Amino acid sequence: MAQVSLRKVAKVYKGDVRAVEELNLGIENKEFVVLLGPSGCGKSTTLRMIAGLEDVTKGDIYIGDRRVNDVPAKDRNIAMVFQNYALYPHMKVYDNLAFALKLRKYSASDIDKRVKEAAGILGISHLLNRRPKEISGGERQRVAVGRAIVRKPMVFLFDEPLSNLDAKLRVQMRTEIHKLHLKIQTTMIYVTHDQTEAMTLGDRIAVMKDGRLLQFDTPLDVYNQPVNKFVAGFIGSPPMNFMEGKIIKNDGRLYFDEDAFKIKILESMYKELDSYIDKKIIFGIRPENIFDKLFASAATPDNTISVVCEVVETMGSENYLYLSTGRHTFIAVVKASNKPAIGSTVEMVCDMQKVHFFDPTTEEKIV
Ligand SMILES: Nc1ncnc2c1ncn2[C@@H]1O[C@H](COP(=O)(O)OP(=O)(O)OP(=O)(O)O)[C@@H](O)[C@H]1O
Ligand SMILES: [Mg+2]
Repeated sequence: MAQVSLRKVAKVYKGDVRAVEELNLGIENKEFVVLLGPSGCGKSTTLRMIAGLEDVTKGDIYIGDRRVNDVPAKDRNIAMVFQNYALYPHMKVYDNLAFALKLRKYSASDIDKRVKEAAGILGISHLLNRRPKEISGGERQRVAVGRAIVRKPMVFLFDEPLSNLDAKLRVQMRTEIHKLHLKIQTTMIYVTHDQTEAMTLGDRIAVMKDGRLLQFDTPLDVYNQPVNKFVAGFIGSPPMNFMEGKIIKNDGRLYFDEDAFKIKILESMYKELDSYIDKKIIFGIRPENIFDKLFASAATPDNTISVVCEVVETMGSENYLYLSTGRHTFIAVVKASNKPAIGSTVEMVCDMQKVHFFDPTTEEKIV
């Protein structure tokens, strides 16, 4: 078992493609860290550098106390599971699991023990005599993970391992991977662009964009205290609502003025917002922090806005209301019983404790 650290790691591909820029990341022993970000942000490149499948252009990578920049992949004691986990089709599940150990010249009895142990952990002991085409997609995915487990590596690397599975199986396998981590307590680094996977699996999430690390925090901290507008909008479904407007001061009080509505800001935010008075700003509020006044207990004229309900999406357990101020549309997630008429004007209450403000130029969070 081992910690993994990346110090100022950069990767420039041929043709001056800057895939990763000065990445600093410290992953604790036994930690489950998710690298999250949009397509092309450098997640796989980072993982492949840790695995030793890609050279590091600048910086240092340590696994445990060992600098591994010049250590070949096969000697790094890591195992990687890919999205395209091609199993050997002509080999039985048992032999697929045993293959890497045979290559490494483990004894037959040791191989048998490890294969059976891994199959037991993954619940595939009854499939060992089948070929890949005789098992389901989810079971195949388990075999792919099993091939990594038998090696008892110090670190597991996963690159979007669930993206070939259908939605239901994804959720199921996500739980399996979670359980696996609890069971085998090994450092895991998991790449995905799916924020739900990141939120549910990660001890910490490293949010990346354009080859840079934007934030490295626990899922709840990333959710509640995003460092900038990008992170705020990337985490959460439906995503945070953003509205452009300005801060105005009236009778010593600060308001966010969207044109169609004004809403009073809590005094605890005055200090940070002071330099934005009469200036443009971006207001952010999550859909679950907006309530229909009919059902809200803490409605006051200061935190309530009048908007038009344009669409209601029924999700079963809740409704998504698509609301319009005239200048902006935004989403509120409300109870299933709360179903305003389409086209009607509704009074919505904002939980002002939960709102954020962002600088319109830098997009950094102000408060
Ligand atoms: N072998 C390569 N040669 C040149 N450029 C590459 C190579 N591999 C990746 N890139 C580029 O580096 C950047 C990062 O790619 P990477 O595969 O790390 O992204 P990613 O975050 O894993 O994206 P995805 O979610 O689509 O898998 C992209 O701009 C990509 O086009
Ligand atoms: Mg990738």
